Order: sequence, then structure tokens, then C-alpha cells
Amino acid sequence: MGTRSITFIQDRLVEDVERRWTNDNIDTVALKHFPSANCEKALARPILYSNWLSKDYVPVDREQLREYVKARLKVFYEEELDVPLVLFDEVLDHVLRIDRIFRQPQGHLLLIGVSGAGKTTLSRFVAWMNGLSIFQIKVHNKYTADDFDEDLRSVLRRSGCKDEKIAFILDESNMLDSSFLEENEHTLS
Ligand SMILES: Nc1ncnc2c1ncn2[C@@H]1O[C@H](COP(=O)(O)OP(=O)(O)O)[C@@H](O)[C@H]1O
Ligand SMILES: [Mg+2]
Repeated sequence: MGTRSITFIQDRLVEDVERRWTNDNIDTVALKHFPSANCEKALARPILYSNWLSKDYVPVDREQLREYVKARLKVFYEEELDVPLVLFDEVLDHVLRIDRIFRQPQGHLLLIGVSGAGKTTLSRFVAWMNGLSIFQIKVHNKYTADDFDEDLRSVLRRSGCKDEKIAFILDESNMLDSSFLEENEHTLS
């Protein structure tokens, strides 16, 4: 049974109540159509997939994953940041989600949430875990749309011609104004 597909659908939902509804319905349908399967075991939450603990992308145990991510996170913040990062369950969920997107060809995601929630930090961490270089534009008061085009050309040359694996992180502090975003929409699509 596709527990992987279940997490893919369910973790796109925003509200707890939607996620619960989806989980409950999946359980009901599974029990009905696969009465002989061990649904309790197969559908035990959380359903977490990763290839960090073995070479395959497989379901992983949360505690084993936590130990691994904790150790990697420590190296990451010691090397890259000065402040220690706290690992709680949502962090685990989010890093796996970001990881899943980063491993897709041209994978991209939009993280929405209050400022300071850790969106940029976790994206950098997952990029670092996967050996991706990070590219962020350096906006200053004379940065124009032309500068942005030039930055994009450079990042596309690096990824397209030199086959470099790059995570392009654009965060709200890189935004000049809303017209800038609209332009990006055309360039990036
Ligand atoms: N899991 C965490 N534990 C402790 N501090 C964190 C954690 N995630 C982020 N931070 C800190 O919170 C601050 C804001 O994080 P950031 O990733 O820039 O947030 P966002 O991009 O969502 O606005 C940073 O200084 C970062 O070091
Ligand atoms: Mg940010």
C-alpha cells in the first residue's frame, strides 16, 4: 500500500483538522479494502520517509531519525551558525518535507509562516545535508531588476552548464517590492 502517497497528500494540508480528517478517512478506506493487511502497523503515524538512514528512500523510525538529524544539526550549526538549533517534532517533519522537494528535478517550494519561524534556517540545513550550494541574492539599495536578471543568469549557468546542485533561497528580506516578485514570476516560470 502506498503510505508514501499518503504522506505526500496529507502534509500539503494546512490545518490540523484537515490533516486529521485525511488520516481518519485513509484509515477507514484502508481497513475496508485491505481487511487482511496489518493496517495498524502499516499506517502507524508518523509516516516518515527518508534516505538518510540507509541508501534507499524508505520509511524510518522517528527516534532513529531524530538521533541522526540531531547529530547532523549540531555539526551544521557549529560550522554554519553560532546559535544552537533546537530539534522538535515539527522540525523533523519540515526537514523531511523540504528534503523531498529538493530531491525532485527542479523541485521548488514556497514556505509561508511568521518571520523567525525557521524557514530559511531549515532550508539551508537541508541544502547543506544534501551537499547543495546555496545561492541568495544580495539586495542593496541600488539593486535593480537588471542586477536580478544577471544574478539569475549566473545561477542558471552554474546549474545548467556546470551541473552544480544549487538551492536558490529567496526570502522576504531579498524582496525589493511587489513588482519585483511579479517580474520574477515570469522569469522563473
Ligand atoms: N530550530 C531552531 N532552534 C533554535 N533557533 C532557531 C531554530 N530555527 C530557527 N532558529 C533561529 O531563529 C531565527 C530566525 O530563523 P529564520 O530561519 O531566519 O526564520 P524565517 O526564515 O522563518 O523568518 C534565526 O536566528 C535562527 O537561528
Ligand atoms: Mg527567512
